[in-house]
Amino acid sequence: MSARTPAVIRTSYLAAAISAVVLFGVSVLALAVWPGRILDRQTRSMSPDHIARPTASEQRGRLVYGREGCVNCHTQQVRFVAADARRFGQPTLAWETQFDYPHLWGTRRIGPDLAREGGGRTDDWHYAHLFAPRAIVPSSVMPAYRHLFEARPDRPTLAARDLVAYLQSLGRAREISEAPGAERIDPGCCPHDAHDTSRAYDIGSHPAKARTGDDAPILPPGLNRSRGLSLYGSLCAGCHGASGFGDGPGAVSLKPPPAALVEHEYSRSKLAQVLWNGVPGTAMPAWRDRSPQELAELADVVRGFAPTVREPTSVENHALGSQVYQEACAQCHGRKGDGRGSAAGEHLVRPTDFTATRPTVDRALTALRTGVPGTRMGVWTGRLSESEMQAVVAYVRSLFASGGT
Ligand code: HEC
Ligand code: HEC
Ligand code: HEC
Repeated sequence: MSARTPAVIRTSYLAAAISAVVLFGVSVLALAVWPGRILDRQTRSMSPDHIARPTASEQRGRLVYGREGCVNCHTQQVRFVAADARRFGQPTLAWETQFDYPHLWGTRRIGPDLAREGGGRTDDWHYAHLFAPRAIVPSSVMPAYRHLFEARPDRPTLAARDLVAYLQSLGRAREISEAPGAERIDPGCCPHDAHDTSRAYDIGSHPAKARTGDDAPILPPGLNRSRGLSLYGSLCAGCHGASGFGDGPGAVSLKPPPAALVEHEYSRSKLAQVLWNGVPGTAMPAWRDRSPQELAELADVVRGFAPTVREPTSVENHALGSQVYQEACAQCHGRKGDGRGSAAGEHLVRPTDFTATRPTVDRALTALRTGVPGTRMGVWTGRLSESEMQAVVAYVRSLFASGGT
């Protein structure tokens, strides 16, 4: 460089070096420190004062979740977009994941988001699904996690129990808190689909969550039988079996086991109720992400399984049946057989409502002889004579009042 080279050029390397350092400093401040502080402040101001810390089991479950690579297919972050809010519930606020370190938010959604999974399905369901996802959801691409079980889905190892405890905790902090963050979410961000409100769901109301309620939609006439059959094949056959015998590949470990649809008549309003609300206390999910039209088609398929041989419902021993019933059964199944006996509320699984469900003679006798595992329905042999059982079975069958609805 000659002595006549201008000073600007001679010192340009210095200027470049200084501006590079300054630019680097500014970008660190602008892209990391500043947003970090905003997030921090936001987290602190929105977070409820006391958040239940994860239990030891849930923390171990979190490690299993990370170790097994669940994060490669499942996100845990509901984004602030309408499509997400509709499918998965309220968008995730920063404070919800403050114990989630290193975080498991995930980036790929091959399966559904799990941020609101807690309480959405029973432990029963999760074990059967983890053991063999395709036994429950035939089209699933989720791998089976058999190594978390001792050869059978009803024998989970500690790792599987921890994992399910963790899954059941997802979204819980947000569900039980009244954190100020919730109403700060711009309602304009996430409009529910005005045309199909049944599909929109809020926090703590996973569309599969079984609940007690009487608000089932009135089903329209089911028009499309072949669509009903294909829906049944993809949603129900895994548990209830392709022909409705209650013997699907996912049924083995479930308590109570899936109903044998071929052994029951159901009124149509009962089916609306069951499909809309699920059966609380059992692996039977609700199907609120399905339209009333689809539920109607499913209901028709279920009614199509009903026994075709008409067994007599006239009661020879009406007096005996009624007497046994009022003495031994009414406190649970209700004086009128509607499942609303005085002791019914104590049960996780509600006693059968015989006005809306009619089991076959065989099914009812089996229930009396063996009880219904996973429920409070006990064994009656020994307590009732054979003729008393016959009489009470005929009696409960006579209570069915479908009226074709
Ligand atoms: C190869 C991708 C993949 C991996 C890995 C994976 N999943 Fe899934 N998962 C899916 C898909 C696809 C579905 C939807 C179909 C189904 O329900 O099986 C799903 C569904 C689920 C559901 C049901 C969600 C709901 O409420 O409908 C849960 C819970 C779940 N997975 C948990 C896990 C856990 C826990 C792990 C790790 C042990 C895991 N998944 C690993 C793909 C995956
Ligand atoms: C994960 C397994 C599973 C799946 C999937 C499933 N069910 Fe069930 N279902 C059950 C169990 C468990 C019960 C409870 C039996 C009981 O209450 O004793 C049940 C009960 C029922 C009953 C009887 C309800 C009552 O109160 O007596 C009907 C009807 C029914 N399911 C229909 C369906 C239909 C239709 C589908 C598909 C849309 C479906 N189920 C999917 C497990 C399942
Ligand atoms: C302690 C409460 C209780 C008593 C007492 C009781 N039940 Fe039950 N019963 C239940 C419950 C809970 C179920 C399970 C419902 C389910 O699986 O969804 C059930 C199921 C049944 C079923 C099976 C229905 C089906 O569709 O599979 C029959 C039949 C039945 N009970 C008859 C009777 C008769 C008859 C008596 C009296 C001799 C009686 N129960 C006494 C609670 C009771």
